[in-house]
Amino acid sequence: MTDANDSFVVFEPHGRRVPADPEISVLELARGAGLDIESVCGGEGRCGQCRVRVQADLPPPGVDERAVLGPAVAEGFRLACRVIAPAGSRIWIPPESARGRPVILTTGVESDLEMDPAVRAFEIEVPPAELGRVVADRERVLDQTGLAEAREVRFGLAQIKSLESRLTEGQGRLTAVIRYGRDLLDLRPGWIGHPLGLAVDLGTTTVVATLVDLATGQTLAVQADANPQIAHGEDVISRISFAEKEADGRAVLAREATSCLNQLIRNACREAGVEPGLIFEAVVVGNTAMHHLLLGLNATPLARTPYVPAVSEALDVTATELGLNLAPGAMVHLLPVKAGFVGADSVAVALAVGADSIDEPTLIVDLGTNGELILVHEGRLWCCSTAAGPAFEGGHVSGGMRAARGAVDRVRLDERDLTPELSVIGRTAPVGLCGSGLVSLAAELIRVGAVKPAGGFSDKLNNPRLRRGGRGGEFLLVTAAESGSGRDLVLTAKDISELQLAKAAVAAGARILLDQAGLDVPSRVILAGAFGNYLDPADACVIGLFPGVDPETVQGVGNAAAVGAVMALLSVRQRRRARDLARKMRYIELAAHPEFADRFTDALRF
Ligand code: FES
Repeated sequence: MTDANDSFVVFEPHGRRVPADPEISVLELARGAGLDIESVCGGEGRCGQCRVRVQADLPPPGVDERAVLGPAVAEGFRLACRVIAPAGSRIWIPPESARGRPVILTTGVESDLEMDPAVRAFEIEVPPAELGRVVADRERVLDQTGLAEAREVRFGLAQIKSLESRLTEGQGRLTAVIRYGRDLLDLRPGWIGHPLGLAVDLGTTTVVATLVDLATGQTLAVQADANPQIAHGEDVISRISFAEKEADGRAVLAREATSCLNQLIRNACREAGVEPGLIFEAVVVGNTAMHHLLLGLNATPLARTPYVPAVSEALDVTATELGLNLAPGAMVHLLPVKAGFVGADSVAVALAVGADSIDEPTLIVDLGTNGELILVHEGRLWCCSTAAGPAFEGGHVSGGMRAARGAVDRVRLDERDLTPELSVIGRTAPVGLCGSGLVSLAAELIRVGAVKPAGGFSDKLNNPRLRRGGRGGEFLLVTAAESGSGRDLVLTAKDISELQLAKAAVAAGARILLDQAGLDVPSRVILAGAFGNYLDPADACVIGLFPGVDPETVQGVGNAAAVGAVMALLSVRQRRRARDLARKMRYIELAAHPEFADRFTDALRF
């Protein structure tokens, strides 16, 4: 019911009153009010994740909106990114459209590492100057570091200018923080303690920051949050398009990444009880788009053939250039990227799992909207990126959602009557299916014969859960009465097709890498990332994600990219190893591969 005298709209179930604005969509209005609505496509009207109910007199939905919403139109849903709410409207955000805090995987493979950090702090007692023996202040400081090439260490002019006062203030006792044994980062009176470092996994969806003691290697704090750039689309293509089309878009995205990192730095320091001014180095890994957007580089070429990055080698930039609030003089090291869609995160994964010392044919897989694959065989490495689409992250699926509270992440079906047994994140009423839940449900339906190997539902089973819905055949997983959304949670034939497309893209990429290496099947599959960690290998094998692979040989390794970042932070040797791995990886461009289309078609069957 609208009230013409009211100049506000009300968002439910929060009850938040917000001034109406005839110039902006409901999606933007909600965002401005701090209410997050899912928007996988970044508000382009393609993904259908932003659906809301608006109680107001609205013009009817157009053809495009109807096509995206499907049967939900009849239930009164509209796309928040496509409607403008007049004053007096009430807008209901259903649980599946409200963006919950994602479950963030912060840990990964453990690794024994020989410490060899780029940054070291030296506690120095500087002897007083002597008459008749001319040794300048700078040289007397450096001699005390014990470094072989001490006198070659580079001092900035400002550091030389402040040297005398610092010596006086510290009464001859100083902390010299030196990087790579050649660059003086900071000189402080007295002893400041161990220098700290920050390893960052800058993901498209989530950002994980690990605070580490650079002298002992001890992890002091791990903090994670959603990447705020998500407001401009959940996939990298939507972000790149935002950066390209919006005035100042590139600067906006860089600023958002930086402010997220600064918040994580503050949180991590608070957790560890330390000052950000003790963090002298950060290592950042991320996909190539996140890497470019953080640096403020033009990411548009990454989305257009021939998908060329602006830079691929490792980079060192100052924290100040990136706007990061770390110690004065702190540096940020970015691991190398391999190609437009094989980024520093893949290099970090390869480092974390020791891809250069694996001695059996191994496929390393990091799955998301994009799947990055690395194949290791006889000391050689091949890699590719495959556009899996959003199904593995709950996108383009009628009951899909990200791995957040309320998401079904695993399903088991009773073979006799198809009664489901569910695992739900947060042990709450089920709201939707996340990627691993989707794979799990599909695998169960294949196993009981309800879904045919070619896809689609079998008509041989007679069960009330298998029924006709607004979009053809569907399986009723959770009734409206039992669900957390008040609506039936179903898997439709179209959802199964989406999953087929996603899994075929991955399986075809894997097949092409295996062909390059002259292999039939890998001896081992390593699954990196959150999705890989929650995915049941047996389910993955039932749907044919890795054809011919024995589920026993599939191993989830957690957030290996974050672990790789920590390794590169703690050891220059590992940093070089990452560089060598990136150089060694042979990139196979699937978009240009003559056999990709055939391999993809072959892989569509379950
Ligand atoms: S359809 Fe509205 S954000 Fe995607």
